[in-house]
Amino acid sequence: MPENLFLDTLHGRSASDAPPPVWMMRQAGRYLPEYRALRETHGFLAMVRNPEAAAEATLQPIRRYGMDAAILFSDIMVPLIGAGIAMDFAPGPVLQEPLRGRDSLKRLARFDPLRDTPFVMEALRKVRAELQPEKTALIGFAGAPLTLAAYLIEGRGSKDFEMTRAALLNDEPFAHALFDRLAEITGDYLQAQVEAGAQALQLFDSWSGVLGREEWARLVKPSVARILERAGKSAPVIYFAQNAAHLYGVMADLPAQGLSVDWRLPLTEVNERTGGRFVMQGNLDPARLLGEPAAITGAVLALRREARALPRGFILNLGHGISRHTPIENAAAFVNAARLPL
Ligand code: CP3
Repeated sequence: MPENLFLDTLHGRSASDAPPPVWMMRQAGRYLPEYRALRETHGFLAMVRNPEAAAEATLQPIRRYGMDAAILFSDIMVPLIGAGIAMDFAPGPVLQEPLRGRDSLKRLARFDPLRDTPFVMEALRKVRAELQPEKTALIGFAGAPLTLAAYLIEGRGSKDFEMTRAALLNDEPFAHALFDRLAEITGDYLQAQVEAGAQALQLFDSWSGVLGREEWARLVKPSVARILERAGKSAPVIYFAQNAAHLYGVMADLPAQGLSVDWRLPLTEVNERTGGRFVMQGNLDPARLLGEPAAITGAVLALRREARALPRGFILNLGHGISRHTPIENAAAFVNAARLPL
């Protein structure tokens, strides 16, 4: 039975000549005037913790543009805050006390999604009640273990995550213990989101590319595979890997339904490197949305033509989050171009 365009496509039930479903990573955010208005009276974390505000921010881009999927307004660091790791957002996460050494893993000992992040589940229930199920799917999400570890160890964003790489490569027992624990927390968290109404899941691995291939395959991959395997039992999962061109070969057998790809390689080439196993999502450079609407339309149509060759299906998205400098009419050009005849 058809559900909606996004879920049907992610399940591999779409016709290759039909218009693709479209959404944008970071679609709830600062490029929207109505989001900036909400932020004038609420701090970022206060919004995340307030189910009415989080539901409102989730729905804002849907009302304005009618994307085929809504993604919960929250952050990848939220379950870790729930586990007791203190941090501020300025605007990215800044930890008061980064994790160092095996002893520090005690700080991740406790996490129960219903007890520690009840506002996430409440926000999901509220959003689901507002969406028309045949039109808009609801995506829940979490950060992947390496990306979470990067912020936990480095304490904040970084160009090359040198301290993170040093800690993981030079203390493998620490790396294994940390990734095991993050896989467990993330698995529990995603399952609770599905029970609260998320119909699909995305695992964000923004910093998947910082390690070499052998190290990624040995230290990180088992935890990613465990999360995808477990989450996939309750909802289809998209894995977003950034800067991962050197990793696609070893990612090919990950148990995900979808692979979200950055703009660095053509989707068709990533599809070949991963054995044609995934529904492909992506991959317009978000910087394209800083140009002219007509050029954005042209770029989307070219991408859709390329995507007709994808065997499993195609979800139109950006290669990373939308820039806060994007003019609102340019975001409209992107979404609308998904529905134009080819
Ligand atoms: O996609 C969506 O609209 C859903 C909400 C969402 C946010 N963050 C809201 C947010 C999602 C899915 C994320 C994921 C996230 N958070 C990632 C993975 C994806 C990616 O972009 O790489 C990462 C690495 C983070 C950590 C994080 N949180 C950073 C680096 C920042 C600062 C980024 C920036 O744009 O300056 C945040 C803060 C954050 N998360 C904001 C939003 C809307 C900006 C907060 C504000 O309003 O001040």
